[in-house]
Amino acid sequence: MAIELLDKKIISQYIASKHHHYLENMVIFDQLPSTNTFLTELAKTQNNTTIICFSEEQTAGKGRLGRQWISPFGQNIYLSLLWQSTRDPSGLSLASAISVTETLNHYGIKNDIALKWPNDVFWQNRKIAGILIELTGNHAVVGIGLNVNMQLDTDLIEQPWCSVAQIINAVPKKNQLAGLLLNELLETMLKYQQHGLKPFVKKWQQLDITRGKKVVITTQKTKISGRGLGINDKGYFLLSTADNKVMQFIAGEVSLSLSK
Ligand code: BTN
Repeated sequence: MAIELLDKKIISQYIASKHHHYLENMVIFDQLPSTNTFLTELAKTQNNTTIICFSEEQTAGKGRLGRQWISPFGQNIYLSLLWQSTRDPSGLSLASAISVTETLNHYGIKNDIALKWPNDVFWQNRKIAGILIELTGNHAVVGIGLNVNMQLDTDLIEQPWCSVAQIINAVPKKNQLAGLLLNELLETMLKYQQHGLKPFVKKWQQLDITRGKKVVITTQKTKISGRGLGINDKGYFLLSTADNKVMQFIAGEVSLSLSK
């Protein structure tokens, strides 16, 4: 099957004119170890610059919690954005996850999309995108992996996953998706810079896959069961415990319990 390679000209068509100046600092690679690593390195020498980086393939793609992000050539979108953050970045990953859901909506995928704290995007309970935020000095690197047309019949991915191709049952237009995603992300970053997480909280609560459900949260120190209560204004995960206490978590891994 022919692979649609990323093309700056086509991507630009989906970027609002107010964001066009950011495209001056956009690079597209055939292969990188990781778009996030590339930008975190670059951040050490750049000041006040926004840089956009796509790669067709990552040989050492990074997931959260030290996991690998499987990144075969040409099949998916691997995007990172270097951004000078002037706000408390704790809610940035949640806001970025919402930008992925908006992108899918604009592409015509409107149903069955959900979010799992802090930043997993699901379609029908299968993961379609992941986000890795890395902070260096006063910069944030926002990395997004979106499964577009993953062909791998892979056991390497530990959890149920899906791709845009599987949802629409056709080969997606990768450049259109990349452009829509980048545009949404830039929009989100500017909104976050101005208002923080606040304008995103309502949308999060609507899409939260764990809200009202039995969950287990695993942190570095402990594992606690309870019911998901959504997030607070700072983006912390709220858990109602069996003895009706509300606990807040700034970090951790949430999984849904099978029992009701
Ligand atoms: C996760 O869900 O574990 C986060 C996955 C993040 C993957 C993206 S792909 C682009 C960027 N570069 C990386 O190495 N990782 C992020």
